Amino acid sequence: MNGKIPKTEGIKYTGSKLLLLPYILGTVSELPVQTVLDAFSGTTRVAQAFAQMGYDTTANDLSVWSEVFANCFLVARQPAAFYKEIIDELNALQGYRGWFSENYGGGVTSVEKRPFQLHNTMKLDAIRDKIDSYGLAWPDKCVLLTSLIYALDKVDNTLGHYCSYLKEWSPRSYATMKLLVPHKFPITTKNKAQRSDVFDAVKEYHDLVYLDPPYGSNNEKMPPSRVRYASYYHIWKTVILNDHPLLFGKANRREDSRDTVSSSVFEEYRRGKSGRFLAMEAIERLIKEANAHYLLLSYSSGGRATKSELNDILNSNGKLLKSVEIDYKKNVMANMKWTNQWTTSQDKYKEYLFLIEK
Ligand SMILES: C[S@@+](CC[C@H](N)C(=O)[O-])C[C@H]1O[C@@H](n2cnc3c(N)ncnc32)[C@H](O)[C@@H]1O
Repeated sequence: MNGKIPKTEGIKYTGSKLLLLPYILGTVSELPVQTVLDAFSGTTRVAQAFAQMGYDTTANDLSVWSEVFANCFLVARQPAAFYKEIIDELNALQGYRGWFSENYGGGVTSVEKRPFQLHNTMKLDAIRDKIDSYGLAWPDKCVLLTSLIYALDKVDNTLGHYCSYLKEWSPRSYATMKLLVPHKFPITTKNKAQRSDVFDAVKEYHDLVYLDPPYGSNNEKMPPSRVRYASYYHIWKTVILNDHPLLFGKANRREDSRDTVSSSVFEEYRRGKSGRFLAMEAIERLIKEANAHYLLLSYSSGGRATKSELNDILNSNGKLLKSVEIDYKKNVMANMKWTNQWTTSQDKYKEYLFLIEK
């Protein structure tokens, strides 16, 4: 690896691995691999980097937004000028008060807390309807949807999650949103964009599978809570589907993002009947079932109990080739000789990468 990190793009996203890209790519580039699966792809930043490094890349995630980003960067093949012409037209549209303005737009003096100012949701209403009218192929439509989501992400009135909105308008919410052509790189590898449960995605063989599951907070010092991607980013699903769903609660979330709707087992912080953490059991099952030569697992946060369970899992499934501890605030990486030491650290800026040979 020549030390150059390819440029990637993404929304603000809990658990985004932008800062870990140098370490992930550094580890993978030492291996004899050609096909890679980014199995929990989220923003797809890791998949975007893999594809630019020359690997045949599959991006997979349960969420509809991740599949859209993956299609935009890994699959869509029209020249930039094709998208630019449409995006210029979209930016020039006159906004109007439609469904999005009704439910997500707020006036400067509005009493209700809203994720965007009305002048931007009016543009959103016009642009989103227009995108449907072009009748484009799905990957090309995904480029426009990605561009729209990135533009909205820059003018939001949130702390990053769409479960609640700020009381005072954020400075950036006053800006007029503007769509840009996503930074697309030339596609030179065989790529795929997929929206499957991870257990289905890992059935197909890949030389390397990168696993970056969500970890609920089970840090002993914090109240247990679930990471809930469906509720944090419900708005992106609605922008993509444009399906005017039933909404509930103060944040006007989609009905299917309720906490009672069954979510991913990886988002569980509870222990199961066996006394083990449900998420850890799922990770062990995933490591066992993944059809791959190498697995690269990301791990962050979590308390002592979870770490100790993970330590056991790593030492009893496959051959642990490498364990890396990264302090990304200080940009320092250490190769760990295998000890239990990492399991007792409570430093919240530490991230771990484990390379396993199956
Ligand atoms: C920590 S984030 C991944 C972040 C990603 N590496 C990045 O850099 O943006 C975890 C992702 O797992 C996805 N996810 C949760 N449960 C899943 C499942 N059962 N199958 C596939 N994806 C799942 C979530 O939608 C979320 O995007």
